[in-house]
Amino acid sequence: MDFKLTEEQLMIQQAARDFAQTELQEGVIERDENQIFPTEQVKKLGELGFLGMMVDPKYGGSGLDSVSYVLAMEEIAKVDASAAVVMSVNNSLVCAGLEKYASEEQKEKYLKPLASGEVIGAFCLSEPEAGSDATSQKTTAIDMGDHYLLNGTKNWITNGNTASTYIVIAQTDIDKKHKGINAFIVERGWKGFEVGAKEQKMGIRGSDTHSLMFTDVRVPKENRIGEDGFGFAFAMNVLNGGRIGIASQALGIAQGAYELSLKYAKERKAFGTEIINHQAIAFKLADMATEISAARLLCMKAASEKDNGQDISISGAMAKLFASKTAMDVAVEAVQIHGGNGYVREYHVERMMRDAKITQIYEGTSEIQKIVISRGIAK
Ligand code: CAA
Ligand code: FAD
Repeated sequence: MDFKLTEEQLMIQQAARDFAQTELQEGVIERDENQIFPTEQVKKLGELGFLGMMVDPKYGGSGLDSVSYVLAMEEIAKVDASAAVVMSVNNSLVCAGLEKYASEEQKEKYLKPLASGEVIGAFCLSEPEAGSDATSQKTTAIDMGDHYLLNGTKNWITNGNTASTYIVIAQTDIDKKHKGINAFIVERGWKGFEVGAKEQKMGIRGSDTHSLMFTDVRVPKENRIGEDGFGFAFAMNVLNGGRIGIASQALGIAQGAYELSLKYAKERKAFGTEIINHQAIAFKLADMATEISAARLLCMKAASEKDNGQDISISGAMAKLFASKTAMDVAVEAVQIHGGNGYVREYHVERMMRDAKITQIYEGTSEIQKIVISRGIAK
């Protein structure tokens, strides 16, 4: 086991850290407060190759490994968790799904602009009645010969109003249950495709989350991904990798909150000494540092298993389960360490606490991660 990062991985980590400091730090409070999408910053992330990090350069990507992706995600999320989720969805759900499972024609047409950051993508699985229970898809795609007719509603879609390319999961044969589900590539602007109102969220407020409505949208047959009935397996396999992205986002939030807390504890005085000299505060920091290290190891393990081509359903779920709990625990304690200052915007940790919560909900709630892990280990 080698914990040493390669020269290339260190370079990616530094580039992401620099980008976060120079491009994301400024304005992060205002973007959160006013729910402003980081348009310019996401464009620059694309130019730097951070939106198609693991995609083969022949499809416009950066051809990096998943470990580099974890490192970059952590650095971005440490400063701006909203920008991080945009990056995560594009990289590990949309681009990864297309690169692994789409046809050559689909990759040429859709993956290249997504991986190079020319456009961004969205992954549309959740519905009003199918969140955790993802097999209960109500959106239908009826086979009309040369095209499918898509009808239904997706909700909670990240990049909902900023994406150009949408991967939409829909039921094509209800009798076959989850084996009668397909995944389709849908373009923004197609007739019958409507974007709903923006959700007013607790956290990750710089990212845009919308419902999407499909009314008799004609989806060409050639836009189905994989064989007929492959859609649910597609979604599950893509989500295995996606969970590493969200675990790294959670890790970044935790690391960011911890670093601010350590700095604050060394500066703030109470009872004639810096508060870090009070053991109650020092022990909080010790717990934070320990949990973060453990979360990082789980993220790296899952990423390295992915790079080795191993099954990552269990390790990805474990990384997400643990890192998201770490983010929540650490962010709550970060607010506590900051006292009253922790409760106001300018000290950042209150935002981090709000941002941390979503990592326990999306890409499978913590309860769902436990289902995935327990079924996996019982096999
Ligand atoms: N990897 C690969 N295949 C998997 C899998 C995994 N992790 N989990 C389940 N499957 C397969 C099973 O093997 C089974 O296939 P076969 O019939 O061919 O054997 C099939 O999927 C159905 O599995 P189950 O019988 O276990 O189905 P279930 O209905 O009892 O439970 C579930 C399935 C694991 C709970 C699944 O519905 C699930 O993962 N739900 C959570 C959905 C989710 O994560 N949504 C995220 C949306 S995207 C998002 O959130 C993005 C964002 O925020 C930024
Ligand atoms: P439910 O499934 O209704 O769950 C409610 C509660 O019941 C949860 O605590 C859950 O863990 C628990 N529960 C449910 N079933 C079980 C069970 N069998 N055992 C134990 N507990 C259970 N989806 C997308 O497809 N694409 C996106 O881009 C996307 N982005 C999102 C962005 C945001 C900001 C949010 C809030 C959500 C996003 N989602 C997205 C949806 C997200 O994946 C779902 O919200 C999540 O999977 C949970 O589904 P639900 O909200 O329907 O909750």
